[in-house]
Parts: sequence; structure tokens; C-alpha cells
Amino acid sequence: MHLLIVGSLEGHITAAGKIAMSRGAKVAHVLDIDAALRALRSGEGADLLMIDVKLDIARLIQGLKAERINVPVVACGIHSDAGAAVKAIKAGAKEYIPLPPNADLIAAVLEAVAQEASAVIHADPAMATVLKLAEQVAPSDASVLITGESGTGKEVLAHFVHRKSRRSHARFVSVNCAAIPENLLESELFGHEKGAFTGAVARRIGKFEEASGGTLLLDEISEMDPRLQAKLLRAVQEREIDRVGGNQPVKIDLRLIATSNRDLEAEVRKGNFREDLFYRLNVVNLAIPPLRQRPQDIRILADHFAQKYAEVNGVAERPLSAEAKAKLLAYSWRGNVRELENTIHRAVLIATGDEIGAGAIMLSQMTPSAHDIATAVAQPADGEAARTLGVVTSGAQVGQTVAEMERHLIINTLSHCLGNRTHAANILGISIRTLRNKLKQYSDEGIAILPPGEGERPAF
Ligand SMILES: Nc1ncnc2c1ncn2[C@@H]1O[C@H](COP(=O)(O)OP(=O)(O)O)[C@@H](O)[C@H]1O
Ligand SMILES: [Mg+2]
Repeated sequence: MHLLIVGSLEGHITAAGKIAMSRGAKVAHVLDIDAALRALRSGEGADLLMIDVKLDIARLIQGLKAERINVPVVACGIHSDAGAAVKAIKAGAKEYIPLPPNADLIAAVLEAVAQEASAVIHADPAMATVLKLAEQVAPSDASVLITGESGTGKEVLAHFVHRKSRRSHARFVSVNCAAIPENLLESELFGHEKGAFTGAVARRIGKFEEASGGTLLLDEISEMDPRLQAKLLRAVQEREIDRVGGNQPVKIDLRLIATSNRDLEAEVRKGNFREDLFYRLNVVNLAIPPLRQRPQDIRILADHFAQKYAEVNGVAERPLSAEAKAKLLAYSWRGNVRELENTIHRAVLIATGDEIGAGAIMLSQMTPSAHDIATAVAQPADGEAARTLGVVTSGAQVGQTVAEMERHLIINTLSHCLGNRTHAANILGISIRTLRNKLKQYSDEGIAILPPGEGERPAF
């Protein structure tokens, strides 16, 4: 949870910031509205803004709207000033927090924001079963392995487990094992001492220590290399870690959640993943079914996203037409909820009329997974395979090499995702690391590559 405090809060910034930090929030501070907008624009996101009631809240909210930055704003002012509270709410603030700040009240606001961010929307019995199990195991400290295809909601479910756990007051920290270069992952997880390696100019606390008392999510764990798997095993078994370059083990106290979109058991059999580590992480397995097996969820999620993106984009909320819904239900959703979310977002923007019609639902049959391409290419004479490729391969022709086709597919998918590496990798069914390596290779070959999408790291 990132909190951005705007203004001086009538001299109570330190107190408010301390309370928020003790509840696990990361707190940043800027002096005025322009600085706040600059910070948000530059990608230093925030989940919540707390603004001094003396500042021009209406102007801030208009600024956010104009730039389509969707973040809740709460106003803070001294207790006795009822007029200011009314004015702030009228201007669009969600809450008014009286000063000096009250710890329980701030905690409640943070909790409400977190809850909204990690709501698991569902209506299908298949998902209800998974959530019931999640709720049942959440209060224990057992390690949880969440499995499911890309985009099924593994991170959302991890947040849910944290929120329902005894550790919900403490931090939820996540590390994407696939997105961080191998040589940096160790110090990212365990931290390092000053001088541990070239560039280690000061001691740095790793994610294990950052998550102390709370929950640590190791996202896409299957991408971790074997050497680091051994170190992770030690951390899980001994409940202590070694900072890189350190000689004093550090005790850790946290709940571990790991996710994988690969079949980890199969990875164990293939020798890619340590069996002992697998059993340590897989005390409880929450397996999320793919979206195509949750028809009720397709309906309710589509409605949810239609409403959400109407609000985010400041356009009138419109229902999905019956034909649009039928089209959604018939589709195979290889990219799962993430793909559905993108599809509905696009539909909200391009639909005309009082309803979102089937015409606005643009399904990317043209972006099959890399696996499909490989299979189809392997059987070029097969009419069925050629048909599967369909529109897809408008860029692919006999005589092209697999490498050329792959490049075509990757670059087109990336452009379809507006440069967003994470989404593109998910749709392609490859890891972010693989995608980055490919893009780096293309760029080295002199091909122009779309820059990263909103909110992504500037690396490849
Ligand atoms: N049940 C759900 N309710 C609301 N949003 C969801 C749900 N499941 C997934 N999403 C959304 O879909 C996207 C992908 O979810 P995520 O948890 O990142 O998937 P995964 O980690 O399995 O790839 C996110 O934007 C997430 O907010
Ligand atoms: Mg994920």
C-alpha cells in the first residue's frame, strides 16, 4: 500500500505517516497539488492520497480526472472544522479524517482501500470452492502454493489470503521472481551488506526482512534458478536468512505464498525444481481453474470491468448486450481474467450506443500462445493446424523461418498490449524474462521496439 500525503496536514504529517507506516503502508510526502500530480504522472504510483483540507481539493480531483489517474483521495483537517469537511466531500474526497490523527481511523481507511483493491469477484461454484479453502487456511501460518494459468487471479488470491490472515495488519510484500534478473534476485530477496559486491554502497534490507511479521509473495517461483532455490530452502527450513556479504544470520517471521503458472510437480520430475522445496511451499495448494471453466465468473467479471473502466475513463456506464455476453462466453480465454479485463476495457472505449454490443468485443484469436505456433509449425501440412493459425499469421508465410514468425508474433502481441511487457508475456505464454531477452535481441538487431507500458520498469 503506497500512501501519498499532500500538504502539511496542519503539522500532523509525522504522526499520520507513522501510523500508516506501522500498518504496513509506504509513505511519501509532497508539499502541494502540483507536486502530487507530478509524482503520480511520473509513475510513482499511490493507492491512496491524504490531502490537507486547506489545499484546493477540487483542483486536485479535477487534475486526477483530466489525466485519468484513478486513486482515492481522503481529506484531513482539524476536528472542529465541520464546514471544511462538507466542502472536501463535495469536492470529491471519499472521507474526512479529523486531526490530530486517530490510529484506528487511519487503519480503517487503509483497510477499506486495500479491500477494494484485492476484492475477488466471483460467482462460479468452481471459484467459490477455491475461496472457501483459501479462507479456511488463511489464519494458519502454512505456506501456500497458488497455481493456475497466467491471468487467472493468482496475485489477487494471494492478497486475499493475506487479508484473511492473522498477519493482515502487517505488510504484504511481493517479489516477481521472473521479472528480476537472476544476479539481482538474491540480494532483492535477502538483502546485502555494504561492500558485498561492486555497487553495494550501503546495507540494503531484502524482501524477507521487509515482510517481517507479514506475508511474502514469491510470484512465478518456477523461474527461480537452482542455486537460489537452495538458499530459499534454507530460509524456509531454518526460518533465517543470510544477507549477501553478511556473516550473521537474520531471523525471519513471515507467511510465505508462492505462485506458479507452470505445473511445479512436472518441473520437479524434469529436475528443474527442487523436490524438497516444492514440498515446503506446497503445504496447501490453491488451484485456480482457468476462466473458460468458470462461465458464471465470465459474466460477473465482464460486468465488473465494464463498470470499472467506465468510471476510470469518465464515460457513461453501459450494460453489455446479450450478444456481447454470448460472444464472451463462447471464447476460450487463453489469457484468462487479464485478457477479459483488457477486452472489456477496449470495448468500453470503442462502443457506441446505449449498450456495449458484440461488435465492440474484439477477441484476439490472432494471438495464440507461442506453444500453438510451435505445434502448428511442426505440422505444416495439416489443414486443421493451418486453420487454427487463421488470421493470426497474416504476417506468416511459407518460406519464413520459425524465428521470423516468432519475432512477428512477439512484436505484434507487444503492440496489441501497448508495450506492456507483463501482459504480452502472459498472452504469449512465456516468462517475462524470456520476453525481455527476445526484445533485447531484436533491438540489438536494429528493430524498433515499443517502449514499456504504463507503470512498468524501463528495462526491456
Ligand atoms: N476474481 C477477480 N476479481 C477481480 N479482478 C480479478 C480477478 N481475478 C483476476 N483479476 C484481475 O485480472 C488481472 C490478472 O490477475 P492476476 O492476479 O495478476 O493473475 P495472475 O497472477 O494469475 O497472472 C488483474 O488485473 C486482476 O486484478
Ligand atoms: Mg501474476
